[in-house]
Amino acid sequence: MAAVLLTVLAAVASAGALKTRQLFEFPSPTFIENIAVRPNGHVLATTFTDAGLYTLDPSASNTTAKLVARVPGKTALTGITELYPDIFAVGAGIIDNLTFVNGSTSVWVVDFNCAGAEPVVRLAANLPQSIIVNGLATLPKARHMVLAADSIAGAVYRIDTISGTVQIAIQNDMLALGSNPAYPLGINGVEVHDGYLYLSQSAQRFFARVRISDSGDQIGEFEIIATLPRDPELVAYDDFAITGNGVAYLTAHSNTILKIPPGGNQTVFYGPGDMPYLFDPTSTALSRDESTLYIVTGGSAVRGGATGGQIIEVRL
Ligand SMILES: *[C@@H]1O[C@H](CO)[C@@H](O)[C@H](O)[C@H]1NC(C)=O
Ligand SMILES: *[C@@H]1O[C@H](CO)[C@@H](O)[C@H](O)[C@H]1NC(C)=O
Ligand SMILES: *[C@@H]1O[C@H](CO)[C@@H](O)[C@H](O)[C@H]1NC(C)=O
Ligand SMILES: *[C@@H]1O[C@H](CO)[C@@H](O)[C@H](O)[C@H]1NC(C)=O
Repeated sequence: MAAVLLTVLAAVASAGALKTRQLFEFPSPTFIENIAVRPNGHVLATTFTDAGLYTLDPSASNTTAKLVARVPGKTALTGITELYPDIFAVGAGIIDNLTFVNGSTSVWVVDFNCAGAEPVVRLAANLPQSIIVNGLATLPKARHMVLAADSIAGAVYRIDTISGTVQIAIQNDMLALGSNPAYPLGINGVEVHDGYLYLSQSAQRFFARVRISDSGDQIGEFEIIATLPRDPELVAYDDFAITGNGVAYLTAHSNTILKIPPGGNQTVFYGPGDMPYLFDPTSTALSRDESTLYIVTGGSAVRGGATGGQIIEVRL
């Protein structure tokens, strides 16, 4: 039933003839985990496979991703969020045998507002209490503070990137793995929009929001906006972007982007029938003018394939 519904939705999406272009494909097995867009329009991509931060200029005719920063002592980067113009926070850890090493988690600041050609990378905070920080989101009224999703503990931390202080802002079963999880991550992506924390939940298969204070504390009940349809192609929601009008573009493993407007009427925005094929999309980001959606993927190596992580542009 769900499969039939999805096929119909995919046909609707494909009929819309997406204006898509693959900007770059990394060599296998580079796995792109997350993405942000700089004020100059260049894309930043974080990798799970070498703790690299890569940059790419989408306006260049023959564009190539170049390494701009590496986080020392770590093997994997996770979420990324812009604190101040051209200053980003990124999550990092050590992955061994596809598993994060407990105690290796940390958040770093990457500052492009520096005299040199290279950004300055500095440690903001270690999170020994966490196995993984996944999505990151800046608090709009306190931009040196980030909220970080712990996908295992089912928590959202508030991290002061200046003092290094880490506190639990939200801890709730709605963020946790839940009983009998088929996917090993709970809360995944986070974005702050209009006084709410929006979040994707991989194991529990929903997209939700919760009202937060200016400092990120929970001040309302969780509201489930959409649930992941039951379809063999739809394994788990991953990270997402949200427009100024509250339209979310959510990635879903293994090959789909779902569009969820504020009312929660979820449709397939980019499906397995669209080209180029998405190999495990992990996150999306919008250009500043919201005319373009960028999608990053993990590539097919985790499934034994030869495609590296992709960066794809969709004109909206
Ligand atoms: C584009 O980039 C590729 C890879 O770096 C290179 O092999 C190719 O010659 C370039 N093409 C043009 C037109 O610059
Ligand atoms: C890697 O993890 C898998 C699954 O947990 C386990 O079966 C395997 O033995 C591990 N390999 C090594 C080299 O630790
Ligand atoms: C991770 O390490 C912390 C601190 O040492 C410990 O309390 C926690 O139980 C560990 N978690 C797991 C899953 O091993
Ligand atoms: C949901 O979106 C689809 C596609 O845009 C549209 O055809 C349908 O009418 C919408 N349903 C509701 C309840 O708004």
